[in-house]
Amino acid sequence: MTAPKKLFIKTYGCQMNVYDSERMAEALADQGYQETQTADDADMILLNTCHIREKAAEKIYSELGRLKPLKALNPDLKIGVAGCVAQAEGAEIMRRQPAVDLVVGPQSYHRLAEMEQQVRSGKSALDTDFPEEDKFEHLKSRPKAARAPAAFLTVQEGCDKFCAFCVVPYTRGAEVSRPATRVIEEARQLVDRGVREITLLGQNVNAYHGAGAHKDLTLAELIWELSEINGLERIRFTTSHPNDMQDDLIEAHRSCAKLMPYLHLPVQSGSDHILKRMNRSHTAQSYLELIERIRAARPDIMLSGDFIVGFPEETDADFQATLRLIEQVKYGYAYSFKYSTRPGTPAAERGQIDDAIANDRLAQIQALITRHQREIQESMVGRELSVLIEKPGRLAGQMVGKSEYLHAVHIDACSAAVGDIVRVRATEAKSNSLAALLV
Ligand code: 5AD
Ligand code: SF4
Repeated sequence: MTAPKKLFIKTYGCQMNVYDSERMAEALADQGYQETQTADDADMILLNTCHIREKAAEKIYSELGRLKPLKALNPDLKIGVAGCVAQAEGAEIMRRQPAVDLVVGPQSYHRLAEMEQQVRSGKSALDTDFPEEDKFEHLKSRPKAARAPAAFLTVQEGCDKFCAFCVVPYTRGAEVSRPATRVIEEARQLVDRGVREITLLGQNVNAYHGAGAHKDLTLAELIWELSEINGLERIRFTTSHPNDMQDDLIEAHRSCAKLMPYLHLPVQSGSDHILKRMNRSHTAQSYLELIERIRAARPDIMLSGDFIVGFPEETDADFQATLRLIEQVKYGYAYSFKYSTRPGTPAAERGQIDDAIANDRLAQIQALITRHQREIQESMVGRELSVLIEKPGRLAGQMVGKSEYLHAVHIDACSAAVGDIVRVRATEAKSNSLAALLV
């Protein structure tokens, strides 16, 4: 038997890319590839790229420049670029960096095995189509190896919202939901392999409407169906859009015990003028009212959000409105970004605001968010929490897992095993995690 070829995948960006990278590894396992953790000994390197912000493409070109000399050491090495930069740049990548053998966009991963054979025969391979068929149908997760207790499962891809700053509708394409029957089947397979928590992924996951056995299911209906699976103990979903937050989903947060009390609901700005210019079609007030309804259903829910500062035309008054909204909501986690021009999006045509001002706003918003995060984390001390154990900690006898609120929790003198869900009492808030002891 010949030695297996080695595959190194470097994943950038969102959780959806993490899920896609797993599927690509499985597709190439059938071609005789085994994953390795370093680029140095690989026969195939795949960069699974992100295009959401910054000079993402430039970063990929410099990474490719660093990888290129490896080809002199291993003449069999093939290099591929996948993900949203691949989609956005296409053949340009091979023109600028001839060491690249393969370019594959996010909707074409089911063609990867075929493309691999093509590059092995000495040709290059490019696929950035938006094909009709469902890539996941051809990329079925294989019921083999055991899995970590927490897994991602992509249920929806793409976006029709066209926020004025965002490349997703262009790189991931139109909003598409996977059939619920398939999602449930995949969830069962994951649970058979030891998974106890599933995070349903989609760029607009709460707009989900996938074909079930009898009718299309909403996200809430899908969650209820998944909650019937024995052995699946925790369900999460991300990312949601305020406009798609339907009553049945809020209701599920009230009454579905397996649905974890955590919600990522980005608002982007607290200024109605900016929200309008962002094409968000909700106001700060309608968002706050929505949060009120969600909290009425599930008072302890942990909220998280995304913010962009320095969007074109953002005045100091607009920025102050964002800070006020953050004060009102008080997020357990929030991610803030300096606006970054994305070629081809409507906002890219507008006048940019001064970079020093944007940097200053970013520092202010991050300070406020960090203060809230700390306060909320500290408020956990003394409380009883449930933790899904994910791995051993760095210290002897210590285990690490996540609380229902998604805080990382370190448990000393822990007799529980990976995959167990245990009751703990939080004893201390550290900078990025909680210390706790078994109850
Ligand atoms: N500039 C800065 N941040 C952006 N995001 C999306 N596009 C941009 C951009 N052009 C942020 C949004 C989104 C998160 C995933 O990334 O806040 O919710
Ligand atoms: Fe991008 Fe807006 Fe769609 Fe989110 S809702 S993926 S920010 S266009």
